[in-house]
Amino acid sequence: MWKGRFSKATADLVQQYGESISYDWRLYKHDIAGSIAHARAQVSAKLLSSDEFAAIEKGLREIEKEIEAGEFNFSIELEDIHMNIESALTERIGAPGAKLHTARSRNDQVATDVRLWIKDQCDAADAALVSLLKTLVKLAAANADVILPGYTHLQRAQPVSAAHHLLAYAEMFGRDRTRLAAAKASANWCPLGSGAIAGTTLPIRREVTAKLLGFVDAKGRPQVTRNSMDAVADRDPTTEFCFAAALCGVHLSRLAEDMVLWSSAEFGFARMPDEFSTGSSLMPQKRNPDSMELLRGKAARFQASLTHLLTLTKGLPLTYNRDLQDDKPPLFDAADQLILSVAVADATLAGTKFHKARCLAAASDPALLATDLADWLVRKGMPFRHAHHAVGRLVALAEKSGVPLDKVSDEAALTADKAFTKGWREVFSLKRGFAARENTGMPGPKAVAREIARWKQSLR
Ligand code: ARG
Repeated sequence: MWKGRFSKATADLVQQYGESISYDWRLYKHDIAGSIAHARAQVSAKLLSSDEFAAIEKGLREIEKEIEAGEFNFSIELEDIHMNIESALTERIGAPGAKLHTARSRNDQVATDVRLWIKDQCDAADAALVSLLKTLVKLAAANADVILPGYTHLQRAQPVSAAHHLLAYAEMFGRDRTRLAAAKASANWCPLGSGAIAGTTLPIRREVTAKLLGFVDAKGRPQVTRNSMDAVADRDPTTEFCFAAALCGVHLSRLAEDMVLWSSAEFGFARMPDEFSTGSSLMPQKRNPDSMELLRGKAARFQASLTHLLTLTKGLPLTYNRDLQDDKPPLFDAADQLILSVAVADATLAGTKFHKARCLAAASDPALLATDLADWLVRKGMPFRHAHHAVGRLVALAEKSGVPLDKVSDEAALTADKAFTKGWREVFSLKRGFAARENTGMPGPKAVAREIARWKQSLR
């Protein structure tokens, strides 16, 4: 491509070291779409005749089919997907092929391809998340009457419903969708026309290309990048995508950990579907939650991709530097693993069954309603801090005499605090506890039903 300038060919080692075709071949569809749009814009700038355009488009479509069929011969000497395609085109159609790269550099070309690719991946990941959300909401609705302990510090804290617990994850994945949409919006600006760094002297119309490639706002108006130097140096969309993936990976890992705990004999709250559990080659009785452990582990990989990109771009001088070629493996990996991981979580949850009786038994320790008792004292006019101490004394009494909190005698209760007058035991009803928590965001059955309805509505 640059042999005019040099007297010696590039060393084999440099070719081997510098090639990106082994991974960036995956951009072929977007590279071809970008080239066709660029060629079309060249026609309207009178840089190409319509015959030349027709030859280019036909040639590129043929190449696309060949790649799809696995019949295309990728060559490391041609370094990357851009040069592989362009050189195959020129071989095929001659001179018009050599005109394609007019008013373009691989710097704005690769930035365009990757942005198009990211936009597609955001859509694919979003669709996977919508499906996962629907599954979560369905599972929540089916288990609205399953009561289990909520935990803080992995110690039983207060009773909640399985639905409320599951919908906590729906909130996280809902926010992940917002972050993916933001990454997509930041990818939605067309860099073509930025050239290598300083644009081009040739009369191209950037808005035409942008529009053809779908770099448009909600009203269909073309969006072109506003600074050629930024456009070829910028890897924000890539980094933002990987951030969205990393945070979604964190959410998935927390869900996975809950599933690992819930499916253990110690908890026994839930049973994962057979197809998503694995046995042991040695211990015949084992039923391992491997897919959830893998999901928990993938978070490390997503974070590695994000760290890779942040570190790759930190301190790079403007504008394009070859370092940037290495932005693709972490991006591709993050997208692949994200879409797979969300699908695994989705399918696992779809077949998960709750063990209602075991959940209820775990949530039935009256001590989990100690806070409700403190609130009862507050309603009688006691400052909360004092109420907390009074109930604390009652809990200590119960522990000392080896009885559940609600079985402390009235006399003994009065020694803990004289405010424990008749009726203090009324708080020890799960039904009462839930019914008192119907405010927005709380685990009361009506509040949860409202959230389920809201989710169903928004996911239609
Ligand atoms: N393979 C290169 C990359 O992905 C394409 C851009 C190369 N530009 C350059 N000036 N060498 O970054």
